[in-house]
Amino acid sequence: MEYKAIELRRQDGVTWLNFNRPEKKNAMNPTLHREMHHALSELDADDETRVLIITGKGDSFCAGEDLKEYFYDLKDKPGEAERIRKISYEWRGKMLRLFTRPTIAVVNGYCFGGAFAVVGNCDLAIAAEEAKFGLSEINFGNFPGGLVPRAIMDLLRWRELMYYSLTGEPFDGKRAAEIGLVNYAVPKANLEEAAAKLAAKLIEKDPIALKETKEVLRVGRHMNDEETWYWAQAKTHETTQLQKGGWLDKGIKQFTDKQYRPGFGAFKKD
Ligand code: COA
Repeated sequence: MEYKAIELRRQDGVTWLNFNRPEKKNAMNPTLHREMHHALSELDADDETRVLIITGKGDSFCAGEDLKEYFYDLKDKPGEAERIRKISYEWRGKMLRLFTRPTIAVVNGYCFGGAFAVVGNCDLAIAAEEAKFGLSEINFGNFPGGLVPRAIMDLLRWRELMYYSLTGEPFDGKRAAEIGLVNYAVPKANLEEAAAKLAAKLIEKDPIALKETKEVLRVGRHMNDEETWYWAQAKTHETTQLQKGGWLDKGIKQFTDKQYRPGFGAFKKD
């Protein structure tokens, strides 16, 4: 599939996926949704992708749903609207949450409405201090709907969630870090370097352990205490099998042989 609304770049094990409609502030139109669905499905099986970074071309991360092409133009086409909504729901929801490698949202500029679901469903997120976020739906007479509430409800403190949902007031990257929407914010000039550094930290780790970590936390958070315990136990056995004993025979062995300290960094894989 040839992409128009997104763009892929691979570097040092990291796949950079750019929203690529800068002239429309990277708003998500039906083409972008179809392309994201296709790209995530392909990248999930791509061995070269060790970490996935999602960011935007130009001065925007993503201005949310394309208010014209996604909402207005489809308002009298219920069948087509339903089809696009499902595609949009699938890639920003389950496909992103359960992507087999770690994902990082790198918020380089405007981030509004439906784009919060992308940020919320990535594993990690960093932002430019100058980025502008907003749950702007209330400003056009609606509310943060679809995937947005679920994706951010557990991230934001309750008062902030209510405040920004009810007022639609924009806030910057520093504030996004304070309220838990992103991990941290850096000056925009340093954002790409900060993202590459964070990705490199993840690439040092064992890829099977990273995938298992995601599954234990993402699925386990919906379970009760006993279920979480047995789920984590089962996943530990799975990890041992998939790694052919790697964490015990290398990770633990290298520690007992005094080759490294897990408290300070990762074991040597080869
Ligand atoms: N849907 C469709 N088009 C959008 C868009 C969106 N969400 N956001 C921006 N655009 C388009 C504008 O219509 C404009 O198109 P044009 O050049 O053909 O007129 C272009 O992108 C540039 O936007 P503009 O408004 O001129 O830029 P700005 O820097 O002054 O403002 C925003 C940028 C993002 C603050 C403003 O466009 C905006 O409020 N967009 C809507 C954000 C929103 O509520 N998103 C939630 C959707 S769920």
